[in-house]
Amino acid sequence: MNTMANKKTDPHILVIFGASGDLTYRKLLPALFDLYSQNLLPGAFAVLGVARTGQSEDAFRDKMREGIVAFSRLGREGNAADQLAGFLPKLHYLSIDTGDVEQYGTLKGRLSELEKIYDTRGNCIYYLATPPLLYPQIPEYLAAHRLNSNGDGSGWKRLIVEKPFGADLDSGRSLNRVLLDYFREEQLYRIDHYLGKETVQNLLVTRFANGIFEPLWNRNYVHHVEITTAESLGVEGRGGYYDSSGALRDMVQNHLLQVAALVAMEPPTVIEASAIRNETLKVFQALKPFTPDTALAQVIRGQYGPAHVRGQFLPGYREEEVVPENSRTETYVAMKFYVDNWRWGGIPFYIRTGKRLPIRVSEVVIHFKPTPHTLFVENKEFCNEGNQLIIRIQPDEGILLKFGMKVPGSGFKVKTVNMDFHYSELAESQVPEAYERLLLDCIQGDATLYARGDAVEAAWEFVQPVLDLWAENPAAPLYGYPCGSWGPETADKLVEGEKSSWRYPCRNLAEDGQYCEL
Ligand code: BG6
Repeated sequence: MNTMANKKTDPHILVIFGASGDLTYRKLLPALFDLYSQNLLPGAFAVLGVARTGQSEDAFRDKMREGIVAFSRLGREGNAADQLAGFLPKLHYLSIDTGDVEQYGTLKGRLSELEKIYDTRGNCIYYLATPPLLYPQIPEYLAAHRLNSNGDGSGWKRLIVEKPFGADLDSGRSLNRVLLDYFREEQLYRIDHYLGKETVQNLLVTRFANGIFEPLWNRNYVHHVEITTAESLGVEGRGGYYDSSGALRDMVQNHLLQVAALVAMEPPTVIEASAIRNETLKVFQALKPFTPDTALAQVIRGQYGPAHVRGQFLPGYREEEVVPENSRTETYVAMKFYVDNWRWGGIPFYIRTGKRLPIRVSEVVIHFKPTPHTLFVENKEFCNEGNQLIIRIQPDEGILLKFGMKVPGSGFKVKTVNMDFHYSELAESQVPEAYERLLLDCIQGDATLYARGDAVEAAWEFVQPVLDLWAENPAAPLYGYPCGSWGPETADKLVEGEKSSWRYPCRNLAEDGQYCEL
């Protein structure tokens, strides 16, 4: 069953700036190919890869074939061959210096040729998959050649912008201003691939399609909320970018706060872009601002150091390629914060993310308050754990509810048991990759799962005091943690006040390193 096929897809050309880069190779083309294989793209459709690298169209197609075979869903199953024959001829390539406005004339010429060949009626998506330095220039140069809108009202032009949307509040604001100088907000699609994840969207369904959860989803019944995105990989050759970013900018300001917004938001009146994005914005605006003191006490940063993990030596962050040996960039962040509104007043939210943690896992845990009166006193273990609803974003996408059951036999021993749903059990539907969903949404003109400019700025506003604290006090603690551990021990103290601890899904890590919930 295909769940993405409901809306109309117009003929169009997708222009990818940065087409010789890793994102195009590993994510964009494989996702497009999977859409094509499911007949979700219109017949009149072409890709124009644009980059500085000089290469022939054939060389570009060969390279993309390689990426598609390795990274598309169909390719991974070994079934790409048939569809590739129809897909690859639709890929085109143009080498220009994207930093030179004059050369956009060549782009314009090539686009009008392709428009005639494919009959794409002036519809165009521009995808910025370049280094962020070029983000302000490309829209300006497109506009200089009137490639940003069809003056006569026929067809449409859309611009997809990859993160990072700035490096702090000021640069985020100024990027928004520049984008809005040349494109209207309705033309802008700021991609946050976490919003494209099926399980992240399922947060909305879990909350708003079920009568049983929403009545409990507030300060009266929820004790605290925990959101984790752990990665087992390190910076994987991206040390140059990462060292100027760090986990707070790379993961928290965007992905984790977007997930927190879906957990915390009020019900939108309809499932539609502006309704959902209005509610997201309201959550960001309600986040209790950090002061220097609360930022110091409630935000823990860490950096991974060398260690042997499952028999393999893993270098520390400072030993990674291009990373300075005295770098103070954080590869781990744990944070406690509050959403200061009627629903959540006084209820702590905890988020943590890090590289080189024991496993790759992303999940949201809703910790419910204990019963008002404890009847079954001898069950400390259950009392400490309490009821938890765990929304597993990845891997093993699904939902787990933990609650107490009587152990058969004499007395009233209570044991935590699991009610567990795995997406993999839904045999009739496959979980699409985030980029598939998001690309298709843009093609269909649906911006619901894209970040709006005001929300991006509000998210920067929230993290800015932490960035300031770290910039102004380089000596503010940066805790080391060994590769393969769950981060600095100090982060445990953040949650200890809850008579609880972070959930450690890897407690039950099987020998082969696979996640296994017991
Ligand atoms: C990206 C970050 O946005 O998200 C990476 O730049 C990170 O550093 C990645 O590894 C994580 O995405 P996912 O989908 O693998 O959880």
